[in-house]
Amino acid sequence: MKEQLERAEKGVAEQLKARNDRWYPTFHIAGKAGWINDPNGLCYFRGRYQVYFQHHPYSAEWGPMHWGHVSSADMVTWRREPIAMAPSIEADRDGVFSGSAVVSDQGQLVAYYTGHRWRNGVNEDEGNLQVQCMATSDDGITFDKKGVVVEGPPDLLHFRDPKVWRMGDTWYMVFGACSAENRGQVWLYTSKDMNNWEFDRIIFEDPDPHAYMLECPDMFPLGDKWAITYCPMGPVPDGYVARNGHNAGYVVGNWKPGEVFEQITDYRLIDWGHQFYAPQSFEAPDGRRIEYGWLGSFTVPIATQEADHWCGQFTVPRELGLDGNNHLRSYPIKEVEQLRTGTVDFGSFELGVNEDKLLTEDDGGASEIELEVDLAASSAERFGLRVHATQDGGHTYVAYDDQAGRVDLDRRLTGNGDRGYRSAPYDGSDKLKLRVLIDRGSVEVFINDGTETITSFSFPGEGPRGIVLCSESGTVQVTSLKLHSIKTIWESPDR
Ligand code: FRU
Repeated sequence: MKEQLERAEKGVAEQLKARNDRWYPTFHIAGKAGWINDPNGLCYFRGRYQVYFQHHPYSAEWGPMHWGHVSSADMVTWRREPIAMAPSIEADRDGVFSGSAVVSDQGQLVAYYTGHRWRNGVNEDEGNLQVQCMATSDDGITFDKKGVVVEGPPDLLHFRDPKVWRMGDTWYMVFGACSAENRGQVWLYTSKDMNNWEFDRIIFEDPDPHAYMLECPDMFPLGDKWAITYCPMGPVPDGYVARNGHNAGYVVGNWKPGEVFEQITDYRLIDWGHQFYAPQSFEAPDGRRIEYGWLGSFTVPIATQEADHWCGQFTVPRELGLDGNNHLRSYPIKEVEQLRTGTVDFGSFELGVNEDKLLTEDDGGASEIELEVDLAASSAERFGLRVHATQDGGHTYVAYDDQAGRVDLDRRLTGNGDRGYRSAPYDGSDKLKLRVLIDRGSVEVFINDGTETITSFSFPGEGPRGIVLCSESGTVQVTSLKLHSIKTIWESPDR
């Protein structure tokens, strides 16, 4: 694989020379240059958090997939690592697709990924030939491919994205499949030795008949319940749900090894934004369940693809939990607060009727807002934050809508890129807490400590990027408001 990796590094270096940083993230993981999609192989290995990702090093478009790699001792400061895997064997001829990584008893990192081939050798027209492969590494940097561990049934078109975990002396692997009847399924395999895998059962089939494939499934315990997260291909928009070409959701249920999964909730979105796909989780050494999602799109052109030589980034790492209704909560891990370099505290105050309050004329490109509002003492029919606000009036609007009882992220006036708005349900509590992470090309909104989240690209126009708090037709009783400056996650200059 050495030769292929050297070539790929040269490819990224070429892209990097031309990288335009106007929307390049400061505190979100992205490739040095080129295209990235799904988070892969998330784990803690050799004293560092390892994050791999689907990567096309040669352009800002999706193409033959490699595994890119970054690592961190603390999930605050990150180091670029060499590209970890490139297509190099017959089974992964057309792509080293998504997968996961676990640590063996012998202290090796063992990665499982999908070896991808086009059936006709060129494109998807006649479908895919996909198998689950294994690769091992002593240092997390250099991998030895061990070949196929799970062959695909000859006639299945989609068969990919292995997620592996261990319980007791057994290893478990789930991945997504499209059944012969064109239904989206999650298949479960088990192994005692990490090499030989046996089919256990189809652990989940999406009740939505439109869903023909479930990409990047993940399955993990939260308290005494189990969550299955997955990305259905094919669902049709339904109100506020499934608006994106790519949506990620979850169901919660009961499960024990050797048994069926008993689903106890309906499907819900994990995140309500324009961009949240292919999430993967891992268990940190302290037991937290941490997830990364991908901001990108295979269907809607992304503004950075035109001339910026990079595309795709991850969310901040989010800790997952379940509330009393078995709803998933996801909230930035506490380490993210260490990225704050300075804070302006606006305290508590009342924003008048139809008032604009300028919080900053220029947030320096990376900032965070923590806003708390007493809704019972407020009368505005809608209020919120205009972020990425430029001199020409362009902005992205993050707003609480009292009439709808929802929180929106509206890109109608955003400087560049796709428009449209997304909307998350609000849980009705009197105290509204919004935490908004604003990077150079994205906005992440966390509502009431992560009961719901909204994640979208936001590509501002030229010039300084301001933030304005505004009220519409009524007052806003702010009980607390802070603006933080955020520093870079990269340990050395980001080039
Ligand atoms: C999801 C996905 C996966 C696949 C990978 C290829 O975003 O389509 O199913 O393994 O991306 O890059």
